Amino acid sequence: MVDKISIEKKMLFAPGPVLTSERVKKAALQPDICHRSPMFEQIYSGLKSRILKLFNADSNTHHSIVVSGSGTAANETVISSVFNDEEEILIISNGEFGNRLIEIADAYKVGSRVVEFDWGEYPDINKVEDFLKRYSRIKLVSMVYHETSTGMINPVEEVGRLAKKYGKLYHVDAISAVGGENVDVTGQQIDFCTGVPNKSVAGHPGASFVCVNLEAYKQVKNIRGRNVYLNLQKHVEISMNKNQTPNTPAVVMFLTLYEALDELFEEGLNNRIERYKRDADIIRDAVKKRSLKLLIDNDEWMSTTVTSVFLPENIDVYSFVNEMYRRGYVIYLGKGPLLKKNMFQIANMGNIHPEDCYRFVEVFNDVLDSYR
Ligand SMILES: Cc1ncc(COP(=O)(O)O)c(C=O)c1O
Repeated sequence: MVDKISIEKKMLFAPGPVLTSERVKKAALQPDICHRSPMFEQIYSGLKSRILKLFNADSNTHHSIVVSGSGTAANETVISSVFNDEEEILIISNGEFGNRLIEIADAYKVGSRVVEFDWGEYPDINKVEDFLKRYSRIKLVSMVYHETSTGMINPVEEVGRLAKKYGKLYHVDAISAVGGENVDVTGQQIDFCTGVPNKSVAGHPGASFVCVNLEAYKQVKNIRGRNVYLNLQKHVEISMNKNQTPNTPAVVMFLTLYEALDELFEEGLNNRIERYKRDADIIRDAVKKRSLKLLIDNDEWMSTTVTSVFLPENIDVYSFVNEMYRRGYVIYLGKGPLLKKNMFQIANMGNIHPEDCYRFVEVFNDVLDSYR
């Protein structure tokens, strides 16, 4: 048993949780407040307008809510709340988090159709359209924006166009995209878009959010939902009427998210994205110099924040990741079928700057050299 917590600082080059600034950390050190108070309502109102801005949404057409719980909570809030019996979800999956959407739909007994692709395979829009033509019970199309398990950016805008062509609602899991990619619920026609603080927004884990299109909301407003806590309608109604949350929220997480968003907008969303691109370029150049293979070889499909790399067969990926950890850097083992192929992931989300990436590359090269 430990008497006192003492955490050794590691550089988190993993896709969340991420490094946060002192400023964001300090935002947690506020006097304790009651969530049923005008102060909380003021904070929540400010937070919601910042989230709308993050998604390029207007308060006349969209509403945002914050859900206490990690990203999965935001996805469950949408998927558990918008279906009547007999209505179906169409899920496009090409990795771990697409599969997670299937798992959620199954858990809530929502009938699902799945357009499945290999991990790291770019979704073929024609296959998606075939499903939309064939299955009239589909109500909502659901896809991950940035499939974190591979680092691929999916065709969000094209699928949005298709969903609307067939009169369907559209949910996008932008959990690892928002703050790091140009997520635009208006231009990309996304009705329900989910995100978290603890990835590209550079905040803390424990809260998540949903940006809701109000026209789409009208279509689901009277549905009872299949979950008590993660109920979209309860969240939206009390948020609209009272600037509150249905249950006790993770107040401290709301405070640090607020600060993380202010920090992001002071940097500028475009500048943040440009910084992530510079970070990723430094990492990717180093990987290529070592002649290591990348999972995604098309620059247009690669996210600004996750690089998936195969190690040569003679290096054990577990020992490599452990050695990086020992040297102060947290990187991720590949997931699912990609781990068996000796893949690992380097992420540059959060409070990571080019100088951190150059230092990372030095250690990365050193550790690789130690296997010679
Ligand atoms: C795209 C995506 N969706 C969903 C999740 C699940 O989020 P959480 O672990 O915060 O519940 C993650 C987590 O990394 C993710 O990257």
